[in-house]
Amino acid sequence: MRGAEKVIEVDASYTYPTGKRVGLFFEALEGEKVFVTGKTGCGKSTLMRVLNGLIPELYGGKLEGKVRVYGKKGNNRDVFLVTQYPEEQVICGSAVEEVAFPLIQRGWNYRDAVEVAEKTLEEFGILHLAGRDPHKLSDGEKQAVIVCSAVASGSACLAFDEPFAHLHPKLAEKIVKMILKSDRTVILSEHRTELSDGFRVFSMNSGHEADALDRIRSFDLKCGECRVDTSDSGKTLIAARDARVYREKRVVIDGLNLKVKEGESVAITGVNGAGKTTLLRALAGFEKSEGIEVRGKVGMAFQYPGYSLNSSTTREEVSKELLSEFCLEDLAERHPHSLSGGEKRILSALKALGAKIVLLDEPTAGLDRELRRAFISKLVSVVKAKKKAAVIATHDREVAEICGREVEIEHV
Ligand SMILES: Nc1ncnc2c1ncn2[C@@H]1O[C@H](COP(=O)(O)OP(=O)(O)OP(=O)(O)O)[C@@H](O)[C@H]1O
Ligand SMILES: [Mg+2]
Repeated sequence: MRGAEKVIEVDASYTYPTGKRVGLFFEALEGEKVFVTGKTGCGKSTLMRVLNGLIPELYGGKLEGKVRVYGKKGNNRDVFLVTQYPEEQVICGSAVEEVAFPLIQRGWNYRDAVEVAEKTLEEFGILHLAGRDPHKLSDGEKQAVIVCSAVASGSACLAFDEPFAHLHPKLAEKIVKMILKSDRTVILSEHRTELSDGFRVFSMNSGHEADALDRIRSFDLKCGECRVDTSDSGKTLIAARDARVYREKRVVIDGLNLKVKEGESVAITGVNGAGKTTLLRALAGFEKSEGIEVRGKVGMAFQYPGYSLNSSTTREEVSKELLSEFCLEDLAERHPHSLSGGEKRILSALKALGAKIVLLDEPTAGLDRELRRAFISKLVSVVKAKKKAAVIATHDREVAEICGREVEIEHV
C-alpha cells in the first residue's frame, strides 16, 4: 500500500431525518482492503451510503463536512454498494444477467458482459445458478449472486455492507479470499471478525451514542440456563415424520424427522439453498408438505425483516409485555420502518414470539456478536418459560449452541 493514493476521505457529520446525529471519519488508499467493525447501529451502513451517494441523495437528512470519493462527492459509479438485503438488489430475469448488468450499464456489449459474468460465477462456484431467476433463489444464493455482480463490475471501489449475513461460513470464506485477490479498493463491514485476515481493521465504535439495543446487550444470561432438559415430557407441538416439502412442485426436503416439544428451541442449519427457509414456510403453511403436523398458532419472522412488519407503530406489532421484557418500550410509538436494521430484525422476531410456535429465519443476521448472544439466549429462555416451541433457521454457530439442539438439512 506504500505510496498508494488516498482515494476516499470522509470527515463529516450526518443528521438523520429523525434528528439523531453521527460523526463519520474514514479514509482508504487506492487498492486497500479495509474491514470495518463496530456494533449494530454504530453507523457502518450510514458510512457506506455516504460513499455511494445514497446519503443524502435518497435518504435525506443533513450531511456536513468533507466527503471526497475518487476526487468527487459520494457516488455510485466509483463505489459499488452491496447491502445486507439481497432482496432489494436483484432486478434481472436470470442470475447471469444480474452479474452482467453493471457492465452493460457501463456500455459493454451484451455478449462480452455475459462472458465475464459466467467466468465470475464459475470462480464463485455458483455457475449452476446462472439460468435461474434471481428472485426465486434462496436468500444466501441471492446474496452470492449480488456479491458476484459487484466483483464483476468495473467499479474502482467495492463497498460491502454485511454481505455475508446470509451465507454459509464456508462460502463466505471462499468469497473473502477472492475479494482479497482483486486490485480494487474494498470496504467490508462485517460482524464475523474471523474473516478479517488480510484486511486493515477499522473500528467505528468511538463516539457512538447508547441506543435501545444496548439494554439487550447487557442481559446477563448463561447459555446453559436457557436450555431445556430434553427429558421434560411436555406436549409435542411440531412433528415431522419422514416428511417431504415442496417448493413450486419440486421436492426440496425429503425424509425429514423432527419433533419439537413445548419449551424447546431447535436450530435448523445447512448450506445455502438446502431448504431451511422452505421448511419454516412449510411449518407456517405457506408451502406444500406431507408428513408434517403443527399444533398451535404460528408466528414467523422472515429472513427480510421488513416483510414481517406492516403496522404503523411498533406497539401494534409487538405486545407491551414483550416490549418491556426486552427493554424496548421506548420504541413503542416509532414506525417500524423507521427503525435501524438491527432493531427491525429484533422486532420481527419478537412479533413471531407472540405466537405459540415461533419460526425465525436468520434472526441474528447483521447483529453484532454481543447482541446476538444476549438476544437469542433471552429469546430461548422466554420460549422455555412460556412453553412455546421455536424453530430457528441459522448460519450462526452460536445460535445452534444456545438452542442446544441442531438439525442439519441436506440438499435432496
Ligand atoms: N421463491 C422460490 N421459488 C422457487 N424456488 C425457490 C424459491 N426460493 C428458494 N428456492 C429454491 O428452493 C431451494 C431451497 O431454498 P431455501 O430458501 O429454503 O434455502 P435455505 O436453506 O433457506 O438457504 P439460505 O441459507 O441461502 O437462506 C433452493 O434450491 C432454492 O434455490
Ligand atoms: Mg433461507
